[in-house]
Amino acid sequence: MEEEQWYWKALWLNIILAFSTAASLTRITAPYGRHTQAAPSSSLDVWGPSMPARDGWVLMESPALWFTLLVFSAGKHSSETVPLVLLRLFQLHYTHRALIYPFRMRSRGKTISIAIVALSFVFNIYNGYLQARWLSEFGTYPDTWLRSPQFISGSLLFAAGMVTNVWADSVLISLRKPGEERGGYKLPQGWLFSLVACPNYSGEILEWLGWALLTWSPAGLVFFIFTAANLIPRAVAHRRWYVSKFPEFPASRRAVIPFVL
Ligand SMILES: NC(=O)c1ccc[n+]([C@@H]2O[C@H](COP(=O)([O-])OP(=O)(O)OC[C@H]3O[C@@H](n4cnc5c(N)ncnc54)[C@H](OP(=O)(O)O)[C@@H]3O)[C@@H](O)[C@H]2O)c1
Repeated sequence: MEEEQWYWKALWLNIILAFSTAASLTRITAPYGRHTQAAPSSSLDVWGPSMPARDGWVLMESPALWFTLLVFSAGKHSSETVPLVLLRLFQLHYTHRALIYPFRMRSRGKTISIAIVALSFVFNIYNGYLQARWLSEFGTYPDTWLRSPQFISGSLLFAAGMVTNVWADSVLISLRKPGEERGGYKLPQGWLFSLVACPNYSGEILEWLGWALLTWSPAGLVFFIFTAANLIPRAVAHRRWYVSKFPEFPASRRAVIPFVL
């Protein structure tokens, strides 16, 4: 079978994975951050051995940088302007996620399950292949693409989503004072936080919606669906957690989509 036929099968498989991920995450919340569960009378996470959280984040997110670049370079359009611009946008997000965000987290003494790191690492290889292969091999982007309505509107959404995501993560990280790494959770207040519990996830979802538009690609659409399938159930679990810990949590504050969900 030709690689392109395999590629389309891999895209469909990712959609199936997105729906099964959403279905499982409505029952089990991925065990990292506030949802980490310690096994009774043991220092082990119930999900098995763990590693330092900062190292885990760098390791699991980094394939979106190096593997994507490797796959992109092998494509027949890899030296064309538009595919290169699109790759830079994708890598802008992941340079922050893999190389900046982990060093801003207040993570001293915090761990993350190796199972979560391994799953995310594999996902980033899989998704990196799908995105990069589309950009430099299966997709076709003339130079005029940078003036198309899809590219312009998608880039605006992508930028708005990324600014919201980075801003909201910064607010959340700064809630915990140095030395409060164990626990230290507070109720975030103000601006988007008065509308939703997780504006960082709202921003991330908006960003990948922008990506789907600006690349106008099946790969971008599938990544947007997967991100929403992953983060919406987690936002609902975060909101439930806030309600259980903070009696003053406003009932009108939704999980991730203002006034809706
Ligand atoms: N594309 C995707 O599918 C995907 C998947 C997962 C994550 N992400 C992105 O990765 C980033 C981090 O995700 P996450 O799930 O770790 O986000 P999160 O649970 O909102 O946590 C973000 C950071 O803020 C801290 N924090 C959160 N709420 C807090 C509170 N009320 N008081 C004090 N500190 C608080 C967390 O500490 P703790 O870690 O100690 O809780 C963590 O360091 C987000 O930008 C998210 O969009 C993307």
